[in-house]
Amino acid sequence: MVALTSYSAIFIVLCAFASASPTANETHPRLFSKIYAFGDSFTDTGNTRSVSGPTVFGHVSNSPYGSTFFHHSTNRYSDGRLVIDFVAQTLSLPFLTPYRYLKGNESFHGVNFAVAGSTAINHDFFVRNNLSLNITPQSIQTQLLWFNKFLETQGHRGAAAFDDALFWVGEIGVNDYAYNTGSPIPDDTIRKLGVASVTGVLQSLLKKGAKYMVVQGLPPSGCLPLAMSVAPVTDRDDIGCVRSSNNQTYYHNLALRASLQSLRRQFPQAVIVYADYWNAYQTVMKNPGKYGFRESFKACCGVGGPYNFNVLAVCGMSSVSSCKKPYEYINWDGVHLTEAMYKVVHDMFVEGGFTQPPFGSLFDKKRHEG
Ligand SMILES: *[C@@H]1O[C@H](CO)[C@@H](O)[C@H](O)[C@H]1NC(C)=O
Ligand SMILES: *[C@@H]1O[C@H](CO)[C@@H](O)[C@H](O)[C@H]1NC(C)=O
Ligand SMILES: *[C@@H]1O[C@H](CO)[C@@H](O)[C@H](O)[C@H]1NC(C)=O
Ligand SMILES: *[C@@H]1O[C@H](CO)[C@@H](O)[C@H](O)[C@H]1NC(C)=O
Repeated sequence: MVALTSYSAIFIVLCAFASASPTANETHPRLFSKIYAFGDSFTDTGNTRSVSGPTVFGHVSNSPYGSTFFHHSTNRYSDGRLVIDFVAQTLSLPFLTPYRYLKGNESFHGVNFAVAGSTAINHDFFVRNNLSLNITPQSIQTQLLWFNKFLETQGHRGAAAFDDALFWVGEIGVNDYAYNTGSPIPDDTIRKLGVASVTGVLQSLLKKGAKYMVVQGLPPSGCLPLAMSVAPVTDRDDIGCVRSSNNQTYYHNLALRASLQSLRRQFPQAVIVYADYWNAYQTVMKNPGKYGFRESFKACCGVGGPYNFNVLAVCGMSSVSSCKKPYEYINWDGVHLTEAMYKVVHDMFVEGGFTQPPFGSLFDKKRHEG
């Protein structure tokens, strides 16, 4: 599972500054004017391209990454758009610029701090425990430092500056478990440290004045072809995924949700929405055809084998090709999802009831407060 290096979770923080120009067809016209996103490869829209670290999915700059929508690689870990891209579109905002590629003079509608391979727990922890071989040096803590630096360059105007900002914190933490595979450190320790680290970052954002926040839970990581291909075949749950991995992420989410509940009490002026990735994904796995999928377990881009995944020949290498119809697949490259699946997940969050409180409560509060 060290191979999971570059699939760090999605820690998206959307920050949008509201107002302006409703047009007839837009569901949520410019209610927010900025999005700040944090996370890992599930959310990274291009920061990783200059970051050393992830090696297994190190071919993200090559075709067929990006083949579906952009028609060239944008260094997104998918054939097309990610959940955060669909969120931007739903809010009638442009795609988020990756932090490391800000030019400084653009009129900006948000920044994406997510980096593939990043962890919830600070990188030092993995170094101290000899778990840092070949892994991304960034964590969610690094992304918070970047955010603070960014605010300095903007001449940050205090809490009111976030009145129109949506903070979206995508899943982050799956990499922590992956890097810890085979180590004597118990999962319970990873969970406690990971949730504590993410909570600290959320707290810091809320203290600065973040008022609109979405926090994604972890997906059922045991359904990813990589997990399926390394776990023993006896380690399966009722939907055919890796039981131990899905249990890991399930318990992580329980702890995260408890922590969000306490943040809601500390920051009653903020709306903190939990986006239930785990249940959204499970729901699709139980009835893939309903969502247009024909293949739930195999990766679209790969060289064959039971899950069309081989850690030694991954998507983006010249010998590896993509399936003809990525939209019929849930999984893209063994770890990351197809644009089609990211779209389904986005829809389930925004209009499908897979968030608590309902996604619309963000808009209700925004409209109420102007
Ligand atoms: C907006 O909706 C109108 C009426 O349904 C339609 O004719 C028009 O093409 C739509 N515009 C866009 C940009 O989708
Ligand atoms: C930003 O600066 C670059 C380099 O100086 C320039 O090429 C670009 O046109 C500028 N963009 C805007 C929106 O001003
Ligand atoms: C890490 O590796 C070093 C060198 O092999 C060893 O001295 C140290 O005890 C190890 N630390 C842990 C926490 O295993
Ligand atoms: C699931 O995870 C919990 C919390 O770490 C653990 O106590 C339990 O033994 C795990 N169950 C299985 C079936 O792995």
